[in-house]
Amino acid sequence: MPSANSAPASTDSISQATRLPDLDQRCWQQLAQSASSDKSSDAGFRNLTVATCTSSGADARVVVLRHVDVAHKYVWFHTDARSEKVLQLEAFPQATLLFWDEKQQIQLRLVVETRLHTDDYLADEQWDKLHDGSIRSYLSEYRPGTEQPGPYPGFPDHVRQGELTPEDRAFGRQNFAAIECRVLCMEYLHLSKQGQTRARFQYEPVSKMSWLAP
Ligand SMILES: Cc1cc2nc3c(=O)[nH]c(=O)nc-3n(C[C@H](O)[C@H](O)[C@H](O)COP(=O)(O)O)c2cc1C
Repeated sequence: MPSANSAPASTDSISQATRLPDLDQRCWQQLAQSASSDKSSDAGFRNLTVATCTSSGADARVVVLRHVDVAHKYVWFHTDARSEKVLQLEAFPQATLLFWDEKQQIQLRLVVETRLHTDDYLADEQWDKLHDGSIRSYLSEYRPGTEQPGPYPGFPDHVRQGELTPEDRAFGRQNFAAIECRVLCMEYLHLSKQGQTRARFQYEPVSKMSWLAP
């Protein structure tokens, strides 16, 4: 018999897991696969909604899942260091990350503690893996959300075509933030005509797994 934590896990059938440790493991495998794969069939959790607290209430927006550390239970996304969400996370580091995999009919809700990385080696490491297409997102001359006289694509005219220059990359790097999200709790919900299934995996401050009424 394999031990609870070493049970074989398949990533194509998360909801078939009938034991909580298997379900936990399959969810994390699917998150990791979604971050690393370009194939949409593997990427059900590629986009997520980041919900943040603000001084006057709450805010939310979609971002792309960029990196998953399964062993330590961290997920990462990237953003412009000048954006509103960065100010919000600096003031209120706890956030909720919401994922919906339409194909598998699975929602994951992650409660996280965030940490911003802008000018350290962890940010450098992730920046160095970006292609020019992604780097363009960090070339705006204006802080995200500032009013413009007309439609503005988010980068200056000279980078519309052709390769980026070292100066463009250096400017983009200044605006880049990698957001580390330490997962405190993950909640799973599977929708099915046979009945919904809900479970909670608490990682911190104490580790606990439970099935929940949906
Ligand atoms: C599919 C999709 C993916 C997105 N990915 C990102 C992303 O990875 N990082 C990011 O900062 N914004 C991303 N955005 C834009 C954000 O949703 C948001 O509009 C922007 O970051 C400004 O948010 P803020 O003003 O709350 O900081 C994405 C939007 C969509 C629709």
